[in-house]
Amino acid sequence: MKHLAIFASGGGSNAQKIMEHFARHESVKVALVVSNRVDAGVIRIAEAFNVPSILINRTTFFQTENLLKTLDEFEIDFIALAGFLWLVPPYFVEKFEGRMVNIHPALLPKFGGKGMFGQHVHEAVRAAGETESGPTIHWVTKIFDEGATIFQARCPVLPTDSADDIARNVLALEHRFYPMVIEGLIEKFVKK
Ligand code: GRF
Repeated sequence: MKHLAIFASGGGSNAQKIMEHFARHESVKVALVVSNRVDAGVIRIAEAFNVPSILINRTTFFQTENLLKTLDEFEIDFIALAGFLWLVPPYFVEKFEGRMVNIHPALLPKFGGKGMFGQHVHEAVRAAGETESGPTIHWVTKIFDEGATIFQARCPVLPTDSADDIARNVLALEHRFYPMVIEGLIEKFVKK
């Protein structure tokens, strides 16, 4: 079995779709959920799928390399960030280079970088008068939202769309594509 870890800080709707996708998969399993928020919805979702979860705090994540040991114990091969709001520190990126992806709710390189998360992204897309938006799945590097793009999906943005409308359409595309893109990457890049 190839072991996937999901890192999430929030509601965890993508994490849920990923767990559903791999629930009865023959060669990939979600082996761990990592969150930095005790009240993150993703923790309850992990419980429902019988996936172990751990909480991390700033000090251990940024000032020690302890999390690497935990990931080794769970034999993690690949990491999917799904609404994980901390910048991943260099020691961690180096260890999982080429085996860690993120999903961003806009068509990078537009509308990425510091402060561009959640509704801020969709507000900016609306304010810029964009005619389309959609999620970007990209490799994680040391700079926010700068890793090479792996996959994008597009949906129209109508002049009458609110930020909430855009968010809903983009999220639907995330749910539809993120699990299968992750699956393809694991099959391709994790040799076991
Ligand atoms: C998604 O929009 C994703 O693009 C971004 O964070 C959001 C996570 O949503 N990185 P959810 O917690 O999976 O519902």
